[in-house]
Amino acid sequence: MQKKAELYRGKAKTVYSTENPDLLVLEFRNDTSALDGERIEQFDRKGMINNKFNYFIMTKLQEAGIPTQMEALLSDNEALVKKLEMMPVECVVRNRAAGSLVKRLGVEEGMILNPPLFDLFLKDDAKNDPMVNESYCETFGWVNRENLARLRKLTYKANEVLSKLFSDVDLILVDFKLEFGLFKGEVVLGDEFSPDGARLWDKETLNKMDKDRYRQSLGGLIEAYEEVANRLGVKLD
Ligand code: TMP
Repeated sequence: MQKKAELYRGKAKTVYSTENPDLLVLEFRNDTSALDGERIEQFDRKGMINNKFNYFIMTKLQEAGIPTQMEALLSDNEALVKKLEMMPVECVVRNRAAGSLVKRLGVEEGMILNPPLFDLFLKDDAKNDPMVNESYCETFGWVNRENLARLRKLTYKANEVLSKLFSDVDLILVDFKLEFGLFKGEVVLGDEFSPDGARLWDKETLNKMDKDRYRQSLGGLIEAYEEVANRLGVKLD
């Protein structure tokens, strides 16, 4: 499938139209950003790793009954996906306290959250993606009540599937973010799942194996992403 026009350039991916109006090409670039895009750097191999990692995870979620936009892996850094009408919210599940939750509530990093928390953030860079809740979504018309229930259910289901998948290779799924859209009226998982939008800690050492290595200037970002991919058996080369 040939790429046609560039439709949208995000912080780490570019989206292209194709000759089929229902399909898009997602191109994963080597860019890594932090602080809402204020800090950006390139890392060799990152686009390829995230593309193949995302394809692997989306396939697992699809097999578990979660509808995803994934159609095919096209190349090292491109995937063919269904064109969704994206909902303007990010769905976050937290199994352990980290990141903005620790900052906001002052709880200890690593605290087990049982049952896991479900947070919603509005996708709006100019406002720094503020935290919202279900009633905001309904009142402002971002997502209707029926679709909200579906978002929550699918995000928790993904948490079950992925927590087990990572636990089996001695990784803790601390938290993650998902984005959904509508395809012919159905709620479908879009965007990506990669260590850019999830926190993964080694079970034994609690070492961070995700984008926090970049956010916190810990070094070894690509080595950590490759280690996670290798543990899962994602074929990289
Ligand atoms: P947070 O601790 O910054 O709220 O993030 C929780 C998880 O969701 C973490 O794995 C990073 C991911 N996330 C994104 O990838 N993009 C976002 O805009 C937000 C708010 C969270």
